[in-house]
Amino acid sequence: MDRLENARKSVLKASRSYYAHLGYYEECTYAENTNRRELDFFEFAFRTHATHKVRDVLDVACGSGRHVLGLAHRGYRCVGQDYTPEQVQIAKTRAKQERVSMKLLQGDATKLKYESEFDAVLAVRILFLLPDDESVLTCLRQVHRALKSGGILICNIANPFYDGENWFSLKSIQRGHYFNEVCVPKMRFISVDRVQDFDPIHGVAWWQETHVVEAPDGVHLFRERERLRLFTYWETHHYLQAAGFKEIKCYPDWKIKPPKKTKAEMLVFVSRKD
Ligand SMILES: C[S@@+](CC[C@H](N)C(=O)[O-])C[C@H]1O[C@@H](n2cnc3c(N)ncnc32)[C@H](O)[C@@H]1O
Repeated sequence: MDRLENARKSVLKASRSYYAHLGYYEECTYAENTNRRELDFFEFAFRTHATHKVRDVLDVACGSGRHVLGLAHRGYRCVGQDYTPEQVQIAKTRAKQERVSMKLLQGDATKLKYESEFDAVLAVRILFLLPDDESVLTCLRQVHRALKSGGILICNIANPFYDGENWFSLKSIQRGHYFNEVCVPKMRFISVDRVQDFDPIHGVAWWQETHVVEAPDGVHLFRERERLRLFTYWETHHYLQAAGFKEIKCYPDWKIKPPKKTKAEMLVFVSRKD
């Protein structure tokens, strides 16, 4: 029991350090058009899968707020929460600057206390960070409880079988290193990542990452550890079913019309509560 608790704490500690330092810059690398495409997808899923009009939305790991801010601008009532207080503070500052109102809270995605309050819940790029099986199930069950009947959860996983270059593909993990450079207006984000440890039975990798960020506020060098838990399509489907979701639909790479042959990097699940 103590061993499990310690393992959980060390994952949370590493994640908090990573996102406190890098979260804001990392989210800035999501260019305007990527953000818009994801927001458009959310609205498509709200219209198509929820049984009633979506108004109240919870984002269980909102980071520095790119999705909740975008949805609030489109007229939704949003609550965003995140484990990393630095991320929540950035989201609050942005909401104030952009003059949109929403509730922003520090909180763990496995300690949600809501009951039938939301029409939709977002859990985007968070499942891979949850420390273990029990945390994943706890989070999804609590999300299920937080939703009103007919409400939907939108969550995603990175596809480990993606055969291109990415830090979550088995190909990169087995090779042991990954290099990436992202340029968006006014920012360059360079990552040099090395696999520090990989458990091929449980599908958990720890990356040792060095990042150089050239941003308007200067040039920064970060060295952080990042943990990655790999998920497959079927296990995610089973988790969602075990949490109580009935209608579960997968959209590879946020694509509304799935291509015939897909090489999806991301698998996006939309699941409805009965
Ligand atoms: C990859 S970012 C995703 C942020 C946002 N959802 C997005 O897609 O841009 C992951 C976020 O999860 C947060 N996080 C990590 N563990 C968490 C937990 N147990 N509960 C809530 N948030 C957590 C981190 O602080 C970080 O902001």
